[in-house]
Amino acid sequence: MNLVLLGAPGAGKGTQAEILKEKLAIPTISTGNILREAVKNGTKLGLEAKEYMESGKLVPDALVISIIKERLAEDDCKNGFILDGFPRTIPQAEALEKSGVVIDRAVEIAVSDDAILARLSGRRVCIKCGAPYHIVSCPPPADNICPKCGGEIITRKDDLPETIKARLEVYHSQTEPIKGFYEERGKLTVVPGEGGIENTSRAILEALGV
Ligand code: AP5
Repeated sequence: MNLVLLGAPGAGKGTQAEILKEKLAIPTISTGNILREAVKNGTKLGLEAKEYMESGKLVPDALVISIIKERLAEDDCKNGFILDGFPRTIPQAEALEKSGVVIDRAVEIAVSDDAILARLSGRRVCIKCGAPYHIVSCPPPADNICPKCGGEIITRKDDLPETIKARLEVYHSQTEPIKGFYEERGKLTVVPGEGGIENTSRAILEALGV
């Protein structure tokens, strides 16, 4: 199963990817997590990506396409994978297709802009493994230590209100057209993303026939 998760920033892609990877026993590949790790470690990639990410813009296509090609060539992707945050532009979707990767299903998690603004201002993430939490719907432990890996749980720099608005604009102009790309190929499924985490998981698994 080669799966793409689509949706606005904060739609719940990372949350669902964590759940699906356990159910489907395939790895999750999050370009956002890979880039944040590179920024944290101060690598060449991180230095190039930092400014784009902190201002809510997309990192240039060439950079993320090469990251994904390298990652998909690793052994653990042989039986399938879940892409979270890639592709995010039509050129990225085309590059994936041209490289011979066949996507079985693209699942769009549909959430309104108002709900996104409320969600992202309450989001917290583990700095080490990227696991997402929310102060209301999925509260982190009181000591802010991630129960999954022991990492510190923090607020992301791009979850400030002005940056959230910028990310939503980028999403509507550059990423939303990807829905049409997968719809034309008969691979798009849209699931509601506002009825709670478990209901969204159920809708995705049903759509996948799992
Ligand atoms: P990335 O990390 O991919 O950020 P994003 O797409 O903006 O998505 P988020 O991680 O913010 O949200 P999510 O949909 O995963 O939601 P989550 O599960 O956390 O990218 C960051 C940056 O990296 C980009 O801005 C860009 O600069 C760069 N980048 C990355 N990929 C790139 C690419 N391909 N090309 C170019 N640049 C790229 O959930 C959000 C919150 O809501 C959480 O607190 C969660 O607990 C809560 N929640 C989740 N589901 C529900 C629910 N059903 N009900 C209530 N609360 C919920």
